[in-house]
Amino acid sequence: MAAELSPLRLPTINETERGKSNIAFVTGGTGGTGSEIVRLLAKEGRRVIVGTRTDKKFQELKESLPHPDSSLIESFVVDLTDAEGVDAALEELDLGFGETVDYYPLAAGGFDAAMWDFGRAFGKLTLQLKKNRKLEADQLQRSRDDFKAISEAVFDQARRINSEATLALGRRLMDQGLLNQGSKIIYLASTVSEITRIALEHPDNAGKRLDEVYVGPEHYRAIGITKAEAAINLAYLARGAGAMYYNIVASVILKTPIGDLMDRFVPVLEEASRVGNEKFALPTPTASEIAEIIVRVTKTPLAEDEREVTIYAGYHPGEATREVPSNLILPAPTTL
Ligand SMILES: NC(=O)c1ccc[n+]([C@@H]2O[C@H](COP(=O)([O-])OP(=O)(O)OC[C@H]3O[C@@H](n4cnc5c(N)ncnc54)[C@H](OP(=O)(O)O)[C@@H]3O)[C@@H](O)[C@H]2O)c1
Repeated sequence: MAAELSPLRLPTINETERGKSNIAFVTGGTGGTGSEIVRLLAKEGRRVIVGTRTDKKFQELKESLPHPDSSLIESFVVDLTDAEGVDAALEELDLGFGETVDYYPLAAGGFDAAMWDFGRAFGKLTLQLKKNRKLEADQLQRSRDDFKAISEAVFDQARRINSEATLALGRRLMDQGLLNQGSKIIYLASTVSEITRIALEHPDNAGKRLDEVYVGPEHYRAIGITKAEAAINLAYLARGAGAMYYNIVASVILKTPIGDLMDRFVPVLEEASRVGNEKFALPTPTASEIAEIIVRVTKTPLAEDEREVTIYAGYHPGEATREVPSNLILPAPTTL
């Protein structure tokens, strides 16, 4: 007699409790901020899936964790821009019925592709600042052109990983029932990408594209636009999946490759961004401070009537607020 096959059954809405996921899926999990988040989640006994392109980085992270925390992390080794590779890697993970994922899409790129070019362009300004103690308008204009060219050269790459691949993985998780009303999507936006996202929602900008309303400096153009795009897309994804959406906004984060690059050029950023006599103050939390805030504020689910929230993290040490922090001062648009 042929064995009877039971019909495929997916969890119903009532079976999946709000905010009750059992797995944390952290892309960019070996990165500056990602690895700190993985460390904290593993310490809490969470099962953590760590996205990276290289197994070596995963093994190094795993070895740096104390036992038994290290036994709770597993790798998801794939270039997220490779759709077939992502499918194969998901299959290998073998996540299935009854499992619910919190999605931390921290993988991001763009800057890394042209780190030396960005460094050189900032270096030129630094030399001028040292020599003349101020930045001349013509030099600033030339720099703006330099940064624009570099930013445009890395734009496609930035969009593929920061926006398209990030959303595509989220959709796959949703299609497999793993991203559901028990899930949280926890996104880490930058100050500039968040202001760009808000600018797009301004009535004057209705119908415009993100690159037409971008409000940040030229050196950050590719990243700012694609990160804003991701934030918008992920919010829609969360709504579709019934998941909660945490839009965490942070300033420059130290102990990350980009944060540490920016930190070297703070005097130039200050000088180029000076508005009147106002002093440009750049809050610089570290990756571990931001990770601690993220893990803390996302531990408790949102209120019953809330589906998404924006939280500003680390603008004052250790602080997370829903209100725009008093020291959130942006460089004047397009100054660099
Ligand atoms: N750093 C800041 O100042 C700052 C400020 C605000 C927001 N953020 C956001 O915070 C998040 C983390 O930033 P971070 O500076 O900590 O990151 P990071 O150290 O630069 O690490 C980036 C991670 O992204 C992964 N990645 C890049 N391209 C990938 C691809 N094609 N496929 C798979 N993985 C890929 C890398 O994985 P591998 O292990 O394969 O290299 C790496 O682990 C990002 O979303 C960033 O935009 C950063």
